[in-house]
Amino acid sequence: MITRREASTGLLSGAVLVAAPGLAAENAAAIDLPPPRADGGKPLIQALRLRRSIREYSPRPLPNQVLSDLLWAAFGVNRPASGDRTAPYWRHVMVIDVYAAMEDGVWLYEPKKHALLPHLPDDIRTATGLQDFVGTAPLNLVYVAHGERMQDISAEERRLYASVDTGFIGQNVYLFCASEGLATVFRGAVDYDKLGHTMKLGEGQFVTFAQTVGYPRAQE
Ligand SMILES: Cc1cc2nc3c(=O)[nH]c(=O)nc-3n(C[C@H](O)[C@H](O)[C@H](O)COP(=O)(O)O)c2cc1C
Repeated sequence: MITRREASTGLLSGAVLVAAPGLAAENAAAIDLPPPRADGGKPLIQALRLRRSIREYSPRPLPNQVLSDLLWAAFGVNRPASGDRTAPYWRHVMVIDVYAAMEDGVWLYEPKKHALLPHLPDDIRTATGLQDFVGTAPLNLVYVAHGERMQDISAEERRLYASVDTGFIGQNVYLFCASEGLATVFRGAVDYDKLGHTMKLGEGQFVTFAQTVGYPRAQE
């Protein structure tokens, strides 16, 4: 199977896969995700009945189509004319970025292009939380706020509104996972300083929460 990073960096020679140890993130190109599914899924009431936190994951990676549908549900563009999103956000100021930490590195979800932009080539899944399953689950979403975009409010209010924005996204992910038979848990048990440092976040940016997604272990 071709990994996202191999496809992104052209590391394929015919049918032969070439390993990419230590590949610099800047050498990788953006990956266009397949268009998100426009229909299907369980009715809302059923999804609400099924919504729950799950903490045992299969290591099985998520197919690109599932990743596409999941990221769109999380915080994708649902009104192309305005660029507005599947979750509401504070004062119409775009503050939250969704990062995908996977075995093949850390990717920034770019909702307008519905693409994954390479951020780091490293597997930082273990650093995304304080619970064992984060290191082996295929995907940890890391929600990062641009505090510097939140003008004229205190640091406490920045944290509050960024957390609320993140909560809506997290619930979208919960409902998508409930609908698709995926496992997820929204997480605040994170070493925030360490993770921000590991992710090389810019000035003013901070991690709000993380959320693990994968197939439930019981279904293996
Ligand atoms: C703000 C917040 C932070 C949370 N942090 C964690 C966490 O760090 N680890 C964890 O396993 N679950 C975490 N959870 C999930 C809750 O423990 C879970 O939602 C709660 O126990 C209710 O269970 P349910 O989601 O299955 O209904 C968090 C939930 C929220 C809303």
